[in-house]
Amino acid sequence: MDKLLIEGGSPLKGEVAISGAKNAALPILCAALLSKEPLHLTNLPDLNDVRTMLKLLAQMGVKVHRESANSVTLDGSTIDNPVAPYEMVKTMRAAILVLGPLVARVGDARVSLPGGCAIGARPVDQHIKGLQSMGAEVTVEHGYVHAKVPRLRGARLFTDMVTVTGTENLMMAACLADGETVIENAAREPEVVDLANCLVSMGAQISGAGTDVIRIRGVAQLHGATHRVMPDRIETGTYLCAAAATGGQIRLTGTSSCYLDSVIDKLMDAGCEITPEREAIRLQAPRRLTAVSLRTAPYPAFPTDMQAQFMAINCVANGTAVIRETIFENRYMHAVELARLGADIKIDGNTAVVRGVERLEGATVMATDLRASASLVIAGLVAQGETLVDRIYHLDRGYEHLDEKLARLGARVRRVR
Ligand code: EPZ
Repeated sequence: MDKLLIEGGSPLKGEVAISGAKNAALPILCAALLSKEPLHLTNLPDLNDVRTMLKLLAQMGVKVHRESANSVTLDGSTIDNPVAPYEMVKTMRAAILVLGPLVARVGDARVSLPGGCAIGARPVDQHIKGLQSMGAEVTVEHGYVHAKVPRLRGARLFTDMVTVTGTENLMMAACLADGETVIENAAREPEVVDLANCLVSMGAQISGAGTDVIRIRGVAQLHGATHRVMPDRIETGTYLCAAAATGGQIRLTGTSSCYLDSVIDKLMDAGCEITPEREAIRLQAPRRLTAVSLRTAPYPAFPTDMQAQFMAINCVANGTAVIRETIFENRYMHAVELARLGADIKIDGNTAVVRGVERLEGATVMATDLRASASLVIAGLVAQGETLVDRIYHLDRGYEHLDEKLARLGARVRRVR
C-alpha cells in the first residue's frame, strides 16, 4: 500500500496544470450508454475512479478506445450486459450513475447498491423515486437495484434534498423518455452543467441546467459527439489551499476561478491575494493566514468537498474558526488525524471549532477518504519535520499525479511503496 512521505516547511512556488474534473468526467462517461454512436472525450483526468468507470462500462459491452491517458472514445452501440456488479460498485459509489442511462437506453438495469462510505450512508432513494415517477418498476433485492420499463415517460420530479448524482442520473434518464421531464430542486453544481452541455451536444433537449429547475424534452435517440471535460474546481481549490497554508505563491493553469467564488472569498478573507486570469488563477499567500469560519451547502455556496482542506489551513491560521458541515453526516474523520499533528480541533455534531496553533509537528497519519487525504497532505506540507500519510489510494482516486505536481511546486514529497 503506497504512502506519501512529506518533509514540511517549504512554501509552494511555481506553476502546475489542473486536470479535468473527476465529478464531471464520471457522469459524462456514463452518458455514452445513451447513444449507439461514439462519444469522444478529451481533458479526461487520469484517475483510478475513471479507470474503474471505464472497466464497468466495458463489461456492459461498451467498446473503449483509449487514445491517451486523457482522451477516450466510447462506442455504446452494443450493451449486452446492463449490470453493475457489487465488486466494482463497492470501490466507486459513482457507479450508481449508470442506472439512469441503462434504464433509458435498455429498459432494464441491475445496479448494485453503492453502500455507505467513510463520510456517510449515501442513500440513493431520490434516484429510485425519480425513476419510479417516470414509470420504471424498481425493486431492491439482495443489495441490487433492479429497474425495468419498456420506455420511461416524462414527469415532474421534485428531489427531497439537493442531490448532485441524483440530478445527473434523472437528467440522463429523461433524455430518452417519452415527453417532458422537469426536475425541481435540481443541483446547480458546474459538473451538472458540464454533463448537460455534453448531452445537448449529443442531441438532447435540455434547458435550465445550472438553475434549480431543469427541463428535458425526451428524444428518440442521441447521436455521437466530442466533449472536453471541464477543469476540476476542487483540485484547483486544493492546490490554492496548499499554497495558502505554506505561505507560497503559485499559478494554476487550465482552470478558472469562475466556479470557485465561495472558496476564493474565504481565501481572500484568510489574507491571500488571488488574481484570476482567463484560463489560470494565481495566489500569493500572506506570511500567516487569518482563521476563516465556513458552512458547507450546495452550489454556489461553499462546497463540502473543500471543507477538509480548509480545516487544515485553519489549523495553522491566526485565530479560531467555526466550521459547519451540512451535507454529510460524518465528514470530520480528518480531524482526529490532524490532531495527531498537533492541531487543536473540537468536534460537536456537525460543528468543528479549530483553534490555530503556531505550528504542527510531523507524524504518521492515515487517510480515510478522498478529501480528508488532501487535508492531511496540506497539513504535512506545513508541519515541522516528516509526515507519513498512509492509505493514499484514496488520493489516487481523485487527484491526478498529486505527488508529482506538488514536487514541481517545490514540495519535498515522495511516494513510498
Ligand atoms: C456528489 O456526491 C459528489 N460525487 C461528491 O464528491 C460531493 O461531495 C457531493 O456530490 C456533494 O457535492 C460525485 O459527483 C461523483 P449528493 P453525491 O447526492 O451525488 C443525501 C468527492 O469527494 N442523499 O449530492 O453522492 C446524501 O446522503 C465526492 O469528489 C440522500 O439522502 O452527493 C447527502 O447527505 C465525495 N438520498 C446529500 O443528500 C439520495 O438519493 C447530498 O448528496 C441522494 C443523496
